[in-house]
Amino acid sequence: MENRIITLDEFIIRKQKDFSYATGELTGLLRDIGVAAKIVNREVNKAGLVNILGTEEESNSSGDTVQKLDMYANQKLIDCLRNSGECCAIASEENEDFVTIPPVEDKAAKYVVVFDPLDGSSNIDVNVSVGTIFGIYRRQSGDNDTVVLDDFLQKGTDLIAAGYVIYGTSTILVYSTGNGVNGFTLDPSIGEFCLSHRDIKIPASGGYYSVNQGYYLKFDLEMRRYIDYCSDSNLRLRYIGSMVSDIHRILIQGGIFLYPNTRKYPKGKLRLLYECNPLSFIMEQAGGKAINTKLARILEMEPRELHQRSTIVMGSPDMVDEMKEFVMRYSTESPTIV
Ligand code: AHG
Ligand code: MN
Ligand code: MN
Repeated sequence: MENRIITLDEFIIRKQKDFSYATGELTGLLRDIGVAAKIVNREVNKAGLVNILGTEEESNSSGDTVQKLDMYANQKLIDCLRNSGECCAIASEENEDFVTIPPVEDKAAKYVVVFDPLDGSSNIDVNVSVGTIFGIYRRQSGDNDTVVLDDFLQKGTDLIAAGYVIYGTSTILVYSTGNGVNGFTLDPSIGEFCLSHRDIKIPASGGYYSVNQGYYLKFDLEMRRYIDYCSDSNLRLRYIGSMVSDIHRILIQGGIFLYPNTRKYPKGKLRLLYECNPLSFIMEQAGGKAINTKLARILEMEPRELHQRSTIVMGSPDMVDEMKEFVMRYSTESPTIV
């Protein structure tokens, strides 16, 4: 029995009974995200072959240069969610504003989806892992009302489900509906995501730290002290520059990921809605912790705008606690202690 392959679709359907209000809608939505992930995976895999590679002459709403595959992944996710019938609107890192999706067959959809269609896109041209990140919220507006910004400005604690896909040496989809974390590896020979990482739990402590150490001199004193400590403790530094890939390593092997404020990004670089919240949800569900550099829990931050950025520190619980102590010891400001 245990050697039997369990596909993502089968797993999602089995898990449907975990929800008191289970009606199959969330199940359908997760399956549609799985389909979109396979389509994006197909294109990412052949990125070196086709003329889809390269930088598009435009910037996204956060001002970063957009790669062509970003736009492709964005469009595929929107198309899959548009056909799903379970999603009434999406907000993406690649769109300035949220996009409302008309009802399919007059059925009012209950969910909104936020996503970073392609995370780590500067890595595409050099054949290094990239990812997709998503989060699902129940809409706050009435089922038949117009979708409003507040449907998206929900705290991470309100997430119904979240996950990521890593397009790496193999393609893995990891998700949680608030009841643990499971990972599925794509078997390209049958085109199915198969359960490969059951009930992922992050080690309480680990041997890796992940931060862009090139910005060391731009970090605040307490962060520099903590990074010195990591280095002194012989932790191994790993920084891919795709948040999904860096977090995936830490989730499986234990460690700490940091993206603090710098002079260029005084509020941090990573986006609260599309990157920080979904990955913090996964991290906490796996037994880890996720806070900002003011020591507030990421999932309790109040979002004020779609493209809001945040500082972030997440990973093994004991290591995040240790980092907190450094901030409390060396910070000149009084942090929000959690
Ligand atoms: P994206 O490709 O979606 O814009 O995200 C890139 C992000 C994140 O994946 C990564 O952790 C970070 O940017 C890397 O930033 P630096 O190059 O400043 O370290
Ligand atoms: Mn990203
Ligand atoms: Mn992106």
